[in-house]
Amino acid sequence: MPADIWHLIGAGSMGTLAASRLLAAGFDVRVISRQGRSLQRRLRWADGRQQGVTLPAAGDESIRRLLVAVKAGDTRLALQPLLPRLCSDAQILRLQNGMGSLDEEPVPASVRVLHLVTTDGAWRSAEDIHVVAENDTLIGDGGDIPPRWLADLLPHWPGLKWCQDIERAQWQKLAVNAVINPLTALHRCRNGELLDGAEREQKMAQLASEVDKLLSACYPDWPMDTLQRSRDIARQTAANTSSMLADVLAGRETELHFINGYLLRRAQRLGLALPAHQSLTCQL
Ligand SMILES: NC(=O)c1ccc[n+]([C@@H]2O[C@H](COP(=O)([O-])OP(=O)(O)OC[C@H]3O[C@@H](n4cnc5c(N)ncnc54)[C@H](OP(=O)(O)O)[C@@H]3O)[C@@H](O)[C@H]2O)c1
Repeated sequence: MPADIWHLIGAGSMGTLAASRLLAAGFDVRVISRQGRSLQRRLRWADGRQQGVTLPAAGDESIRRLLVAVKAGDTRLALQPLLPRLCSDAQILRLQNGMGSLDEEPVPASVRVLHLVTTDGAWRSAEDIHVVAENDTLIGDGGDIPPRWLADLLPHWPGLKWCQDIERAQWQKLAVNAVINPLTALHRCRNGELLDGAEREQKMAQLASEVDKLLSACYPDWPMDTLQRSRDIARQTAANTSSMLADVLAGRETELHFINGYLLRRAQRLGLALPAHQSLTCQL
């Protein structure tokens, strides 16, 4: 039976889903909620099953394993008070879209940071967390030695795989997100509606070609396929509302700063201009 205790910040859709898998693997999961109290969540799986997830409140104990599943823009506020409680051999598992959310609140160098890149999908209604897709999830930290606890978790997390080049996997996801998310937010449209009409197609092509320009400068073998992958995902998820559009419609802060913003910051360091991303970021 695993002995590790996991602390969770961000017990929303993805955090609760991940917590349910940690609990199934026998880990103890404690939540650090904004209200400082225990949480009771209910997952509704795509096949209609319902599952209660009880997340007891953490005390002020030190933290060895931390799952970070707040929206990227909430990371700094959520993480800052926890830094003094991190053990020197702590491990952080980041379950977020976008990149660079930990750059603003750097964790001590001794802390191992692992990233999850997932195509799972879930959303929250007032009562429940609805799991709409269980697909693939890659986990890695850029090295080739998985943490010990991963072996206990793998049987309980469908589609979870160790990935040696997690940064590239993050870029692959970010590339498509940087095309679909801001355009759907701008046009207030569902993903599939990006394929309706020459004007939107042209905007997609401009954004995708700038992504490929940047990433081919980082990876000589970058496949230059961002437009094709963006079209495929827009078609496969045609009826979906992107997370960025959902945030805009709900008046919440979006993750733009960690998606297109991260692209722009990386491009600036390489002396590259991405005018379509720049202009879209300003518009949003
Ligand atoms: N949902 C998906 O299908 C999906 C898929 C792939 C990736 N992602 C990514 O996963 C990440 C999480 O997304 P999500 O959909 O799970 O978001 P979410 O449902 O909004 O959950 C975020 C949670 O973080 C909590 N939180 C915010 N600030 C906090 C703080 N300072 N301390 C403690 N808790 C705090 C919120 O608490 P309150 O309840 O109090 O607001 C909320 O429960 C995002 O980066 C998202 O892009 C999501």
